[in-house]
Amino acid sequence: MGWLARFLSFLLFHLYFHASSSLSFSFNSSFSAMLCQHDQSLALLQFKKTFSIRITYLHSPWESYFPYPKPYPKTESWKESTDCCSWDGITCDLETGNVIGLHLSNSLLFGTIYSNNPLFFLLHLQSLDLSYNDFNNSHLSPQFGQFFNLTYLNLSSSNFGGEFPSEISYLSGLVSLDLSLNDFLILETTIFNKLAQNLTQLQELDLSFVNMSLVAPSSLMNLSSSLTYLKLRYCGLHGKIPDISHLSKLVTLHLSFVYSYGRSMIEIKPMTFDRLVRNLTKIRDFRLRGVNMSMVAPSSLMNLSSSLSSLALILCELQGKFPDNIIQRPNLQLLYLTDNEHLTGPIPVQLGRLSCLDYLDLSNNKLHGPIPNSIFKLVDLTVLILSSNNLTGEASPATCKLKSLQILDLSNNSLNGFIPQCLGNFSNNLSVLHLGMNKFHGTIPETFSVGSSLRYLNFNGNQLQRKIPLSISNCRNLEILDLGNNNIDDSFPHFLGTLSKLQILILKSNKLHGLVKGPTANYSFSKLRIFDLSRNKLHGPIPNSIFKLVDLTVLILSSNNLTGEASSAACKLKSLQILDLSNNSLNGFIPQCLGNFSKSLSVLHLGMNKFHGTIPETFSVGSSLRYLNFNGNQLQRKIPLSISNCRNLEILDLGNNNIDDSFPHFLGTLSKLQILILKSNKLHGLVKGPTANYSFSKLRIFDLSRNMFSGPLPAEYFDNFKAMVNSDVKMEYMRDPNNSYDYSVSLTLKGLEIELVKIQTLLTTIDLQYSTLTGEFEQLVDLTFLQVFRVSHNRLEGPIPEGNQFNTFDNTSYEENLGLCGFPLEKCNSRESQQSAASKEDDSESKIGFGWKAVLAGYGCGLIFGIAMGYVVFKTRNPAWFVRMVEGFQKPKRFKN
Ligand SMILES: *[C@@H]1O[C@H](CO)[C@@H](O)[C@H](O)[C@H]1NC(C)=O
Ligand SMILES: *[C@@H]1O[C@H](CO)[C@@H](O)[C@H](O)[C@H]1NC(C)=O
Ligand SMILES: *[C@@H]1O[C@H](CO)[C@@H](O)[C@H](O)[C@H]1NC(C)=O
Ligand SMILES: *[C@@H]1O[C@H](CO)[C@@H](O)[C@H](O)[C@H]1NC(C)=O
Ligand SMILES: *[C@@H]1O[C@H](CO)[C@@H](O)[C@H](O)[C@H]1NC(C)=O
Ligand SMILES: *[C@@H]1O[C@H](CO)[C@@H](O)[C@H](O)[C@H]1NC(C)=O
Ligand SMILES: *[C@@H]1O[C@H](CO)[C@@H](O)[C@H](O)[C@H]1NC(C)=O
Ligand SMILES: *[C@@H]1O[C@H](CO)[C@@H](O)[C@H](O)[C@H]1NC(C)=O
Ligand SMILES: *[C@@H]1O[C@H](CO)[C@@H](O)[C@H](O)[C@H]1NC(C)=O
Repeated sequence: MGWLARFLSFLLFHLYFHASSSLSFSFNSSFSAMLCQHDQSLALLQFKKTFSIRITYLHSPWESYFPYPKPYPKTESWKESTDCCSWDGITCDLETGNVIGLHLSNSLLFGTIYSNNPLFFLLHLQSLDLSYNDFNNSHLSPQFGQFFNLTYLNLSSSNFGGEFPSEISYLSGLVSLDLSLNDFLILETTIFNKLAQNLTQLQELDLSFVNMSLVAPSSLMNLSSSLTYLKLRYCGLHGKIPDISHLSKLVTLHLSFVYSYGRSMIEIKPMTFDRLVRNLTKIRDFRLRGVNMSMVAPSSLMNLSSSLSSLALILCELQGKFPDNIIQRPNLQLLYLTDNEHLTGPIPVQLGRLSCLDYLDLSNNKLHGPIPNSIFKLVDLTVLILSSNNLTGEASPATCKLKSLQILDLSNNSLNGFIPQCLGNFSNNLSVLHLGMNKFHGTIPETFSVGSSLRYLNFNGNQLQRKIPLSISNCRNLEILDLGNNNIDDSFPHFLGTLSKLQILILKSNKLHGLVKGPTANYSFSKLRIFDLSRNKLHGPIPNSIFKLVDLTVLILSSNNLTGEASSAACKLKSLQILDLSNNSLNGFIPQCLGNFSKSLSVLHLGMNKFHGTIPETFSVGSSLRYLNFNGNQLQRKIPLSISNCRNLEILDLGNNNIDDSFPHFLGTLSKLQILILKSNKLHGLVKGPTANYSFSKLRIFDLSRNMFSGPLPAEYFDNFKAMVNSDVKMEYMRDPNNSYDYSVSLTLKGLEIELVKIQTLLTTIDLQYSTLTGEFEQLVDLTFLQVFRVSHNRLEGPIPEGNQFNTFDNTSYEENLGLCGFPLEKCNSRESQQSAASKEDDSESKIGFGWKAVLAGYGCGLIFGIAMGYVVFKTRNPAWFVRMVEGFQKPKRFKN
């Protein structure tokens, strides 16, 4: 719609020009060489000087990522003693020479705009576009209210902040106002109402991502009925959507709201919805997200205008059968019914009649049955996403008729049979092919061909067998390849090393065998950043050349049968965030340098190998480590004091070694430590009580069993455990936040040593069995949150507290304490059993998951990857970007480069 506003303004200028020229003919201005007025030229040059030129959206290796036309510094062309009317971004009134248009969108401007900025001298401005720059969280100056003749104002995504000035409501001639994507801008009710009431000419309004949490939704009723375009996405409104059916000229309506804890924060009544859709007779683009429509019958959608071209209802709690009445919208180009977990039924066959459709996303509902063949008649489809339903049947070779497809995502369904061979090369435009988490068997198609556009290929979580086809190496654009969790029975696919853009390679949980081959000159794997070969049958040593892949951030080789020593060459990987070599047969010493080689390392897992010698002593201040696991080796001697430098440590598992030391009370200073496992070592002496500095205040899992501790039960620590009960813990699994890597630990549950591959944040255990602890535990009455409590095989005395969960623990929790009495009579019915069940399930689920939506940054325009994983985008100053791109709220036509 931007073009419409610009067209209108152009029309206005045109009329203005003709009107004024007929009124006042001036004999010299129309012939002067310089059209530009000197004072305005000066103001512009001074305006230019208030900024530096800077790329601000990304500060990472992914700088190339930019989901909009490539920015360029328009003001660079502004030179003194040239006609300012000829400068880039400037429009002048041809008659008066006044600067009436300033269009500096996407111009890399960085700096603060204060109220005395020379910009505010340009009072003749009619059109002002400063969108997509970085004004350093400037307060939106009241001076903007002085541009009385302004019809078009666009300050979208330009990092303005502070209180929204009421003076903007002076701009009563505004036709288009876009202040979207300024997350720190706060707009309150009284000002919004002034704005709504005074801007009577307004046709376009976009306040998405402006903080309107203080605005009463009923204020929307004040909006001018001249509006044709209204976008209010993620602006913090909450409550009920009021009746806005007076906005009957709307062509575009986007309303998105935050959706959290599994429910919408805003609702629409069936009556209101009905009135709205009946009155929006001109609507073409209608998108709601996070609006509770559970009371709205899907049949109400019937009343939506028949000229509709885009319909999105996301997270709207739609209930019941797929609303097949929408199929009578022959102009529909985009249909996006996603994340409505109560939307059921089969995909209607009649969808095949929507011959204009080029974007179809029905993901994350409860649709079942087969994919109707009629869909494959929609030959203009560029995007087909049916993931996360319960679709069954086979993937039809007719899919290959969709020659314009750029994205095909059928993942996470119950599709079975063979993957059609033709899927390897049916569309030259295909960038994303995701068939993961289905029940496909047979082999991987062998038809991938030269010229393929594939960037993302995912067959994870099927039952595919045999070989990784050589033809995948034809996909020269491949950035992500995930074939994990299948039955592939092949040797290591060294040939993938020729894919010079490959950044993520996941082959975990297959039957790969033989030796791991490292990169060579011809098979260089030169861009590899994430490499997961875990749970295969690879053997032999880890090739040293892997450690030349200095861009690696994640290296997971766990659960194979790798042998040999862990080379100190690993310490060259200075960008590493995760190093997991656990569950192999590695031996020798752990290289000292592993304690501090990478400032970004957050996971170091060397558990279940045959390492001996001592724990590295080089952990240093500034460490990012959150997870450190050396469990199940033959490590000796002491727990190094330097571990207390790892201020971010959440999990420390040193169990099942030969550590011969006293209790490492110094670990109590680690204020984020939640899990401490030291079981089955030779630790001895007193388990010291806490002091102010040594508090273990976040501990939830505390396992000291099978050591040689003596003295009283460290009940003071348990008091600190209570802290976590009060905090608002959600049922989640503990994982590395940057890489969605699930932390694991090994615990004894139900008498079995279990590797918990996922740790619930609610799991709490105390295990002190098999030592020589003494004393009583009356003071433990309050530990009502414990799920596992074991003190058997000690020398404890006195009664077990009654009337609380202590009686629910299995008697094996207490046995072999000669002085302990009042053993529980009931069998354990605590959540322990669920815990261990949960720990075993889901082995197939990705340990690291990379959805293409997060990866495919900015697919709304030209599929620009930039391989930005979700978190990279989140780290930029504007989190709004992420949401926008994941939603795919772009016009599908812009997919083409
Ligand atoms: C504002 O500018 C941005 C970036 O150029 C553009 O995408 C958007 O459509 C504009 N808004 C309006 C209402 O024209
Ligand atoms: C003619 O142009 C000059 C400079 O462009 C300006 O200073 C002067 O005022 C103009 N004269 C009239 C009569 O407009
Ligand atoms: C950006 O804002 C910060 C904080 O207000 C300020 O210290 C800094 O000088 C500003 N930088 C520019 C270039 O305006
Ligand atoms: C604003 O527009 C009016 C009417 O077109 C015109 O007379 C006036 O000079 C303009 N004001 C400025 C500051 O350009
Ligand atoms: C409405 O606009 C007019 C004309 O620009 C202005 O004089 C008046 O102060 C504005 N009213 C409010 C409430 O902002
Ligand atoms: C929005 O503004 C309110 C009121 O100033 C503030 O409490 C809240 O934290 C802000 N929300 C966001 C997401 O910034
Ligand atoms: C519905 O739209 C018509 C114009 O198309 C308008 O006259 C009427 O007031 C609107 N209804 C409501 C309830 O606002
Ligand atoms: C999916 O569909 C299959 C076959 O109809 C059925 O057996 C299975 O229970 C369904 N799964 C879910 C999660 O609904
Ligand atoms: C692992 O490799 C060693 C040495 O090659 C061999 O003895 C052992 O049987 C292998 N273990 C498994 C589980 O394959």
